[in-house]
Order: sequence, then C-alpha cells, then structure tokens
Amino acid sequence: MNASRSLPMTTATATKKATTFEHVNRLCYGDNLDTLRTLPSESVDLIYLDPPYNSKRVYNCSFGAKAQAKAFDDNWSWGPEQIRWLNDINDRNKNVWCLLNCLMKTFKRNDGLPAYLVAMTVRLIEMHRVLKSTGSIYLHVDPTASHYLKLVMDQIFGGGNFKNDIAWCYRGMTPKASYFNKKHDTILFFTKSDEYVWNPQKGEPSEGSLRTYKSAMNRGYNANNARGMVVVFDRAKYEAAVRAGKIPQGMRETDFDGGRPALTDWWDDIKILGGPGNKERTGYQTQKPLALLERIIKASSNEGDVVLDPYMGSGTTIEAAAKLGRNWIGMDVTHHAVACTAARLAANLDLEEDDIPVIGVPFDLESARHLRDADRTQYDAWAILNLKAAPHEEKSGRLIGIREFKDWRDSRTVDGTAIYVTSNDEPPSVTDVDRLERLMKQHKADLGFLVAFTMPDEFTLKRIERLGEVRQNNGRHVIPKVQVITVEQIVEGGASATKIFDVSRQQRRKKILSGESQIALEV
Ligand SMILES: C[S@@+](CC[C@H](N)C(=O)[O-])C[C@H]1O[C@@H](n2cnc3c(N)ncnc32)[C@H](O)[C@@H]1O
Repeated sequence: MNASRSLPMTTATATKKATTFEHVNRLCYGDNLDTLRTLPSESVDLIYLDPPYNSKRVYNCSFGAKAQAKAFDDNWSWGPEQIRWLNDINDRNKNVWCLLNCLMKTFKRNDGLPAYLVAMTVRLIEMHRVLKSTGSIYLHVDPTASHYLKLVMDQIFGGGNFKNDIAWCYRGMTPKASYFNKKHDTILFFTKSDEYVWNPQKGEPSEGSLRTYKSAMNRGYNANNARGMVVVFDRAKYEAAVRAGKIPQGMRETDFDGGRPALTDWWDDIKILGGPGNKERTGYQTQKPLALLERIIKASSNEGDVVLDPYMGSGTTIEAAAKLGRNWIGMDVTHHAVACTAARLAANLDLEEDDIPVIGVPFDLESARHLRDADRTQYDAWAILNLKAAPHEEKSGRLIGIREFKDWRDSRTVDGTAIYVTSNDEPPSVTDVDRLERLMKQHKADLGFLVAFTMPDEFTLKRIERLGEVRQNNGRHVIPKVQVITVEQIVEGGASATKIFDVSRQQRRKKILSGESQIALEV
C-alpha cells in the first residue's frame, strides 16, 4: 500500500475514459460519508454497496490460525451523529426526511433501526449526487431492513427508477429456527434516469433447453404457437413449414442464443464462498463471491467506466472491476479492509502491494498522530498491518500484531513468532516494555516489536537490552529480543527492514546471503 494524496495512477486497470479526479483507482480509508463528500457530482457510472445490514452482530476477520480481530460492528444506537445526519437529510431531501420521521414513530429509538436508517440515508443521498445520470446503483442487504431501504431509495432515486429486487439465493448450513430458514439476500437495483447502461446477461442453458436446442436444430426451427414466437435455425426449412401450414404465419422471431436464458431477478446459480478451503476466501467474514460482482458490473457498466464500492470490505468489487477493465474507487472505514483489498489486488492482478495507492492513511508524523488521537484501534491496525503482522484482538479489546516466521535452530526449521504492539507512552516507557514482555510470554513469542513516535530514553533502552538477544539461523544471527520501530520508519516505508531472520523467505529467495545484511532483511 502506498499512502497517497495525489499519486499518479499505477494500477493495471484500464483508464480509457478521461477520469480526472484523484479518487479513481485508489483505495480510500475513512468513513465513506466524508470521502463521498469529496467526490465530484455525476462522476461515477456504477455503485455497488454491501453495507452493514442492521444484523445486530459483530463480524470478524481471521488471519491464519492465531490471529483474529473484529472487522466491523453491525449494532446501531441513536447518538449525536444521528441527530446531525437527520438535520443534513432535512436540508437535502425533505421527502425522505418526512419518511424517516414517520418510520421513527413506529420504532423505539433504542431499537437500532432508526439509527441505522438515518446512517444509510445520509450516505445514499451522497451516492445519488455522485452517480452519473446514466448510472446505476445496486444496494445489497438482507430482508432485515430491505423493505425500509426500498422506501428510502424510492424517495432518493425516484420510485420510477426502481428496476429490480434481486433475490440472491444460496444454500449452506442452517441454524435451528422456528421459522423458514433465511437463505437469500436482497439486491435493490435502481438507475438514476431512464437512460442508463444496460448489457443483458444470460444464464447457462438447462439440460432441458439443450435437448430442445438439439432437436430444434435438426428440424430447422423451434416454434411456440401459443405465444406466437419462433427461433429460426434454418430459414428454408422454417419457410417450408409455414407453407405446409405446420406453423402459423407472422410469428415473432426471438433469439435462442444456444438455449441460454435471459437472467431473471432470481439468482440461485452463484454459490456463497463457504469455508476457508475456497481459494477465493480472504479471511473476511462477509466476503461476497467474485461471480456476483462480475455479473452486476458486466450488466451495468462498460469498459473504462468508474465503479464505486463505498463499503468495499475485502475488495471483491474492486478485484472484479479491475479484472473487467473498469476504473474503480474503493472506500472503507477500517485498515483491515484496506490492507486486505491491497493484498488481494497485489496477489490476483500481479501488482506490487506498495504500488496500490491509498488515500487517507497517515503519510507523515502529524497525520499518524492525528489517527492515533482520533481512533486508537485504527492507529494500531495501521501500524501492525504496515509491518506485515496480523492484527489480533486481545481480551482487553486492544490490537496486537502477530507474525510467524520460519527459523533454523539445531539444524531444524522451526516456527518462530513475533509480537508487535504500539506504545501507550511517548517516549515509550518501561511499562510499555513490561506489557510487551507479558504478551510475548503469553503468545510464546521469540521476538517483540514496540512501535513508538520517538525512541525511548536511556533508562527504558537499558530495560530493553536486559531482555537479551535471540540467536537465529543456527546461532549465526544475533538479534535483540525486543526492537523499537519508529512511526517515522513506518511512514517512510523503512520499517519493513526490522531485524528478523526469516528462513522461509530466504528459501523462497533461493539465495544464501551472508554477513550483517542478512540480519536487516526486509520481512
Ligand atoms: C459487509 S462488509 C462488505 C463486504 C464486501 N462486499 C466483500 O465482498 O468483502 C461491509 C464493510 O463496510 C465497512 N463500513 C461500515 N461502515 C462504513 C463507513 N461508514 N464507511 C466506510 N466503510 C464502512 C466495514 O468496515 C465493512 O468492511
């Protein structure tokens, strides 16, 4: 990932059309309301959003077997923000404000739904502003609140612009329930006007239609007399059949397209991702299948168009858009999501992770301090993910980083573990070192890294020195057990050169290095 305010475009995505604003082909960290407000009006061709559903659940992200952290919290409550947003809504769209007020009378404020609907509405108004007049929007939720959101969308986009209520049906484990199990999501498809991009999509032919196709090919036509429609394969044979009175004259000719049916609003052919064995899986709990996004993007955009996902999560939309030659904008309020998407793009589109520009992440000491003061969890996540460690949520709710590496001891390759924490004090204190030491013991870690804005004073450095050293690579490398990494190193990208000797990485590089340079390897 590359912290950027206005970097040149470096991704492999097609940029056929002139797209001049800075968000294009960038991942944007931050609350999408703030980011959407910086986007020009009428600048986006297609929006797909898979926001929280008001499910009253907390979703996780797992990073291998040892690390797991909260991805996002889908519990809603009424607060000062909701009052501010409701006022914004009143200024921008009186009708939807009236609708929300009516709905709010039905629910108690602590029900969560009013708070959720207000948060969604203020953002949907912004999405309507940034969408081009030929654009489309797909809102992916589930039946918990889809009917209320349909009313909200009718007000913002116009009821006449409603196109589909798509049911994405899937199978999978079913919890015990005293009602029919819920096995579909709802995708509301609206356009901004009557003139919009539409590329009809076809499904796969059924066995029945393939049989029909085969016999009709032999006959030369396939006629449905009752509906007055015919598919013509051999014009001479068809005209002969009309002359012989076998089929009526003046039938409407239709396109058989190899028996491939035009898709309906009932999507039961795209499977959910299932367990971790699925190659598409990134560890992001709410990840959607690529096939779902490919279908939407193909239907409602053309190559070179701009596709926006304001709740990008693991980056499914971004990967699908990039692969289909669209420009893209991804937004998310967590560093997990941004890092996950960047890693995914790098792996699947053959890009360098550091070449994927990200807007809104710290790019100097001041912006790093700002993030720390505004949102401690996100600051911790940013530092940990930049050091290529996996965020793990402790019982206390604080994030630590866990990183596993391969080490060579006593002629054996063994697993080593490193723990990363950010300091509470500035400069880091003995208490910070004590905490790190405790966590290292708890996680049976070999190495510890303490992230701080400034280097510790002499006293704390002595405490760190007393923790001793680790002999790695069969004793050939002597590495301090605890190392301090400065935030400056992280923003300058130099922090990846922390001292750790990773045999697995070495083996991958297929080259044996020697001397001090081995110790300061990039990991
Ligand atoms: C259901 S997940 C999206 C999953 C995604 N479709 C995928 O395939 O991985 C919703 C995402 O919205 C993000 N989110 C929630 N509120 C947000 C906000 N106000 N601004 C930006 N992102 C937000 C969460 O962090 C989460 O990653």
